Amino acid sequence: MANIVQPARDLGRIAEICRVLVRHGFGEVVARLGLRRAKSPESASSVPESPELETVASADEVRRGNRERGEISAAVRLRLVIEDLGPTFVKLGQVASTRPDVVPPDVITELRKLQDAVPPVAFTAIREQIERSLSASMSDLFESIDEHPLAAGSIAQVHRARLRTDEGSQEVVVKVQRPGIVDTMASDLSLLHTFAALVERAIPESRIYSPVGLVQQLDHAISNELDFTVEAENALQFSQNFQAHPSLKFPLVYRQASGKQVVTLEYLDGTKLNQAVAAGHSGKKLARAILEGVLKQIFEDGLFHADPHPGNAIVLGTREEPVVAWVDLGMVGRLGPRLRDLAVDVMFTALRRDYLGLADAIYAIGSPTRKIDRHAFEAEVALRAEKYLGRPLKDIQLSGLIRDLVQGATQFGLEIPTDFTLVGKVLVTLEGVGRDLDPDLDILAEARPIIFDLICRRYSPERLGNELLRRLERLSGATYNLPRQLEEVLYELRLGRLSVRTEDPGLHAAVDRTGRRLFVGLLSSALVLSGAWLLSRGKGQAGTALFVACGLLVAFLGVTETLFRSRRSRKDR
Ligand SMILES: Nc1ncnc2c1ncn2[C@@H]1O[C@H](COP(=O)(O)OP(=O)(O)O)[C@@H](O)[C@H]1O
Ligand SMILES: [Mg+2]
Repeated sequence: MANIVQPARDLGRIAEICRVLVRHGFGEVVARLGLRRAKSPESASSVPESPELETVASADEVRRGNRERGEISAAVRLRLVIEDLGPTFVKLGQVASTRPDVVPPDVITELRKLQDAVPPVAFTAIREQIERSLSASMSDLFESIDEHPLAAGSIAQVHRARLRTDEGSQEVVVKVQRPGIVDTMASDLSLLHTFAALVERAIPESRIYSPVGLVQQLDHAISNELDFTVEAENALQFSQNFQAHPSLKFPLVYRQASGKQVVTLEYLDGTKLNQAVAAGHSGKKLARAILEGVLKQIFEDGLFHADPHPGNAIVLGTREEPVVAWVDLGMVGRLGPRLRDLAVDVMFTALRRDYLGLADAIYAIGSPTRKIDRHAFEAEVALRAEKYLGRPLKDIQLSGLIRDLVQGATQFGLEIPTDFTLVGKVLVTLEGVGRDLDPDLDILAEARPIIFDLICRRYSPERLGNELLRRLERLSGATYNLPRQLEEVLYELRLGRLSVRTEDPGLHAAVDRTGRRLFVGLLSSALVLSGAWLLSRGKGQAGTALFVACGLLVAFLGVTETLFRSRRSRKDR
């Protein structure tokens, strides 16, 4: 997001932030950041408890802060600060609540309570926003629109409407950004960037929470949420992924009435999830539909709703066959194929209590920031995992396990990608939603067949064949490039610029061995490549024959090489 620096406004906002911090008992932070002004002599005596803070807040606020500090925990006070500071900070808190690797559990519990309910914007401003954003008049686009909002959040307001289409009018909802929200958030964000850097410099112990990284993540999340074309794209992708799954649904997007600040979606005429059981739906059925859907999103598709709380789900369909529809698709998590496979590995090894495998999977997910003692790391993973997995399946708290493992990995200097920590957050929400709907829900037992099926599919001949082909294609690419690289080497040689440094007295033997191995490698890869190709074209017999020939060749060459080596080493002795 662009940095909009408005010095005067920024100064006012900084003063306000300081005041709120003091008011909730964080005066020490303000003092350590060096943000208080020099105290004036006449005011110094008025508040004997914290005279220097009175330069940024009133005496009453300082007193209130001191009282709160004695009575309320820091985590609760932090939430109060955030609520007082408004939408950008509420979003910051919500993003921070997804980072169990850097934020302590008691703070996370408080941050989850952050709600972004705000008074609605007047409809005239909403109308202007729609017309400006879509460059069309309201009456051209809509047959009618309900001026009373269906919902009003900190970023957007949702109105029901009837959209004109070629097939007649359609029931829709129009989600409209609050006018001016982009500017407000941009300037708050630019302040936050400055603030985070200041905090890291002035309070070194804050670095384990990585304020700068957190604000960068917030910036990314907000930029995505402030661009409704992202939400529209996500809705489309989800709908495609769930085409063959009738128990889960995502709203259709009407592109002709959608843009960056407005998105028009199919109206989902149903019951809110938290009222569905009271309306006669089966909690058990709903819980299973939701669980299966979310597991598919994470582990199969690698595209998942980052905030599956009950307010974002609408129940449609009949009591016998309910359909759960998800809205609010601005913030999603994404796992690329590799990370997705590794996430499946985490679940698979956890289900089998294979702690060594679990440690391997976590290690592969992270990026080491320093040298890691693998034995100590494995022992740590086993210790943490045993705490959760050494219980009956139905008492295992999956989200707790993931959170604990991520924390352990971070302590060892493994940086875990945010999208993976997001999986942990989604699982926490899912456990809450699932158990509210069905207290007997056994998440791991439900997950087991899904995970096992994914593992089976990973090793299916079809996927293996494709994988093998891809790798061989890369190999053949390398051999194809070989002549050019050789040419470069010869060129350097001719210029007398090539220098070969050798420290190995056995270099001759090594070169000899390498040459033979390269030959075996190239020959067998060519055979496997043609074999795999024939197999994939359905010419099974020829392909199998080539595979067998290749295996025999490798075995034969391997044996002769070993014989050759042992004869030679005997001769050398
Ligand atoms: N397609 C829809 N059909 C019916 N109701 C919707 C639809 N989309 C959103 N809503 C309602 O509007 C509320 C707010 O929309 P949402 O996309 O969650 O915005 P926010 O980002 O403000 O939470 C939802 O909780 C839901 O009740
Ligand atoms: Mg919502």
